[in-house]
Amino acid sequence: MSNQQALVGIVMGSDSDWPVMRACAETLSKFGVPYEARVLSAHRTPDAALDYAATAQQRGMKVLIGAAGGAAHLAGVLAAKTELPVLAVPMPSKYLQGLDSLLAMVQMPGGIPVATFAIGEAGATNAALFSIALLALNDAELARKLSDFRAQQAAKVLAKTLPDLP
Ligand code: RP5
Repeated sequence: MSNQQALVGIVMGSDSDWPVMRACAETLSKFGVPYEARVLSAHRTPDAALDYAATAQQRGMKVLIGAAGGAAHLAGVLAAKTELPVLAVPMPSKYLQGLDSLLAMVQMPGGIPVATFAIGEAGATNAALFSIALLALNDAELARKLSDFRAQQAAKVLAKTLPDLP
């Protein structure tokens, strides 16, 4: 996090989501995107979650990311109270490994969208990269950083070698 105005709000249903969602925070940090991370539950702290989403835009936020496991309605609840883009990251739940969360998030009925990412760390990272791509539409410096990242990633893949057979 930084002292600058947060542009991305990461909302987790529980602090138990943080070990996965820190990949999201780390990616935003790497690109210098100011963010804030909060634990707000759609069912344990419904009023606080609704208030957070309802006031996010006027506080200067551009994107919200909702991460939740079993109670995967969190992202939809946030989206209900803001017109900012809301991204959803399914957390690996204890008994169904996050498949329940994924399906609840991705199958939002028409009208109030959430953009749903992969279960777990890949989804956390990609939600950050997607937020960066959205912000980069109006930020040339951030767009350049994203291009550099993609080029470096491609170079790493192309430099890979496989071990010789014995
Ligand atoms: C969801 O329930 C949270 O987002 C978390 O993924 C899951 C379990 O929460 P805890 O019981 O660990 O607090 O609402």
